[in-house]
Amino acid sequence: MADIKIAPSILSADFAALGAEIAAVQAAGADWIHVDVMDGHFVPNITIGPAVAAAIRPHVAGVMDVHLMISPAEPYTGDFARAGADVITIHAEAGPHLHRALQQIREAGAKAGVALNPATPVSALEHVLDAVDLVLVMTVNPGFGGQAFIGAMVEKIAAVRAMIGDRPIHLEVDGGISPANAGAVVAAGADVLVAGSAIFGGDYAERIAAIRAAAG
Ligand code: DX5
Ligand code: ZN
Repeated sequence: MADIKIAPSILSADFAALGAEIAAVQAAGADWIHVDVMDGHFVPNITIGPAVAAAIRPHVAGVMDVHLMISPAEPYTGDFARAGADVITIHAEAGPHLHRALQQIREAGAKAGVALNPATPVSALEHVLDAVDLVLVMTVNPGFGGQAFIGAMVEKIAAVRAMIGDRPIHLEVDGGISPANAGAVVAAGADVLVAGSAIFGGDYAERIAAIRAAAG
């Protein structure tokens, strides 16, 4: 894949200085900014809501990529669209009306993404592919940064890429991404790489360059 996007997850940034952190990773070569929203119900952690997303929007130069780990997601997708999200991704497991929730995201003016937990089969995508602009394959169980990449997901990424075919749909991977596995996930078909701890744990420019180099 020629055009690989690196999307730092601000979950691993300094929450007291989000504007400055976003500026720093962008100066260091970030393509997208990934925003992890957690509700303490769908996942065992609580992070940020629409007000914080709106506050950081002016600091995001490119794509603001909002990953909703909340259930239900439908009542809140409009709030995140109004906050300025370019991409809003909801989990396939998060509610009974996935197709409608994806339609709502597009109607609100954002790109619609669907995320799959590690245990969720690729077949969950089968009847919503025409309603999505992005598929997110979780490579850890969602909830926390800094977890270990689940190697079995490489095969799943390849299966999702095959299912996407020539549709203009991004394939994003999220969780434990580092230079050690960036090559494998890109070879399997990923084109958007989220990374939190692997970037914010060191020199941002060096870390982003290392992931990009490994992605090939
Ligand atoms: C996990 C989040 C990820 C997380 C990635 O639930 O969706 O975006 O921040 O962090 P690392 O790269 O540290 O696994
Ligand atoms: Zn995420």
